Amino acid sequence: MSGKPLLVTCGLPYTNGPCHIGHLRTYVPADFYVRYMRRSGEEVVFVCGSDNHGTPIVISAEQEGSTPRALSERYHQHFYDTFRRMEVVFDRFGMTDDAMNHETTRSIVERLIENGYVYAETVSQSYCPDCERFLPDRYVEGICPHCGAVARGDECDQGCGQHLEPGEIRDAICKVCGGKAEYREQEHYFFKLSAFREFLLDYLPDLRGTSTARNYALGWVKELLHDWCITRTLDWGVKFPGSDDLVVYVWVDAPIGYISFTKEWAENAGADWKDYWCGDDTRVTHFIGGDIIYHHCIFWPALLKAAGYGLPYAVVASGMVTIEGKKFSKSRGYVVWTNDDYLDVGLPADYLRYYLLSYTNHTKELDFSWKVYAERVNNEIVGTLGNFIYRTMYFAEKEFSGVPDLAPRPEVVEEIERSLAGIDALMRDYDFKNAVDSMMALASFGNAYIQNNAPWKLIKEDRAAAQQVIADCLQIVKALVLVFEPLMPESTQRAWTMLGYEDSIADHPIAEATAPVGARALAKPVPLFEKIEKDRIAELEKTLNLRVEEAKAAAEPKMPTVTIEEFGNLDIRIARVVSAEPIKGSKKLYKLVVDLGGEKRQVVSGIAEFYAPDDLVGKDVALIANLAPAKIFGVESRGMILAAGDEASLLVPLRPVKPGTKVR
Ligand code: 2FM
Ligand code: ZN
Repeated sequence: MSGKPLLVTCGLPYTNGPCHIGHLRTYVPADFYVRYMRRSGEEVVFVCGSDNHGTPIVISAEQEGSTPRALSERYHQHFYDTFRRMEVVFDRFGMTDDAMNHETTRSIVERLIENGYVYAETVSQSYCPDCERFLPDRYVEGICPHCGAVARGDECDQGCGQHLEPGEIRDAICKVCGGKAEYREQEHYFFKLSAFREFLLDYLPDLRGTSTARNYALGWVKELLHDWCITRTLDWGVKFPGSDDLVVYVWVDAPIGYISFTKEWAENAGADWKDYWCGDDTRVTHFIGGDIIYHHCIFWPALLKAAGYGLPYAVVASGMVTIEGKKFSKSRGYVVWTNDDYLDVGLPADYLRYYLLSYTNHTKELDFSWKVYAERVNNEIVGTLGNFIYRTMYFAEKEFSGVPDLAPRPEVVEEIERSLAGIDALMRDYDFKNAVDSMMALASFGNAYIQNNAPWKLIKEDRAAAQQVIADCLQIVKALVLVFEPLMPESTQRAWTMLGYEDSIADHPIAEATAPVGARALAKPVPLFEKIEKDRIAELEKTLNLRVEEAKAAAEPKMPTVTIEEFGNLDIRIARVVSAEPIKGSKKLYKLVVDLGGEKRQVVSGIAEFYAPDDLVGKDVALIANLAPAKIFGVESRGMILAAGDEASLLVPLRPVKPGTKVR
């Protein structure tokens, strides 16, 4: 344990959409960790806030006819409330658009300028001549210069994932009017990130947290570090010092929010924020999603170093979330909304906290499946933990009217101590899944202990021995309730009260687990947890499936009506496949030669994943024969083969017809 107090932060949610399960994968583990460290005697401050700047928020506000500030305030409140409902409790949940963050950001940027880490450069930036505006970040869409995928202005989100600097995107299209963008020169300011290579190579190997964060970042630093353009042509944001029409890039003022929120908390708490952010031995721990490692492990430490602040102590990066085995996607309906789909239908926050932390290792991909969720709840929370606590307390109350005045056996105390020591080591290593598994293993130990000692039989011949068994089990219950509190705060508070304690469990350190429970009367216990029934799961699955179907229907392009004359313009013919061969470098495409009666044609078709060449040769297929010729993957294609559905089922004539026969 180092002398400085711990400061834990979570990646800030953008204020342009509601909280979903993907968000929770960062916040719930962070809250679990914070509670655990506090119950282990550490002083911890836990800050977060909403991320209000950047183009997506301006665009969303424009779309709903509101202002970025009003939109941000609404979603800020939404996140604050939702986190509370999920029992994620911050000491301060601020806004990056609040005065404190404007002030802190400006002073840090001024410091960067003074220290010689910022320079001006004229860059060619996307500009929309119709809207008469520059197009920063999400205002523009185009082609990634690195991999050729369709990309947003600031990030190749569907391709290689690389961050894109202003002006880098090719074939830019304005997102506001859909028009072709031009490139125009404008002066911007850059942060000399490239000057921090040596520093980062030295700093990163010792960065604590998950190995993923450290290793990805080291890999990137070893490759190449580009300077970062830290200004944008936008009204919304923190004004860049000395400029009227530039604001700082959102990825500058967002992490600085961590400092601002600490200051806001400190002002209130009568503490000194510098204890958390200045000096060599600070213990700032960032919990983030795996998609923002670059920002937190490269850009942010370099910026802090350049401005003379302490450096992050640990970065804990979570893996991504998939929904029922499918890639998380709001637009395709693969999403679980925290309120609408979960809390508002009456499901307990504690169950979801358990699922999120125990499903898999923190750095791995986590799949959310309602069936697996029900299994975990029913078998582990209800069947193992709940069952042990209930049967112990039920027996204690029924046979002895409460907690016996007996010390637990030394071997039981030893088992509890051994288990807690293991959990502690795992928690300090950010290995949450194994920590939770060890917690559940202690509940299994309890179940085995009560089962093997069978106090319900023992009591018939040796009442004192049965009483000792129950005293041992109650000690295990107390340990379980204390160690599970960081994970399931609501249910453990109920269990604590059921054990006869009148205060808040959160005021008790986990180390009290081996202190005797203390003789006292117990009220009639009730089961702590409830099973999730099959029908319930079917309903929840139905909601998700319906959403996916609706999204699919909404994504189908609305086709205009065509006249018979227009249809007549299409020359569709039956073509016989003569040969089919793969196209080098493409998994999906075949080069086909087809016979159209009097003529042979070369056609490129995206059916290679579904058919072997031999499946095709000799087959009659439908072909649009008068489609304008095109080059696909450098190969000329004169026509298009017709196929239906995701697996490209080919349209073939039911009765034999000659190659070249017209389809009408
Ligand atoms: O990626 C995101 O959702 C950002 N809003 C996270 C910001 S975290 C930080 F650096 F402030
Ligand atoms: Zn790319």
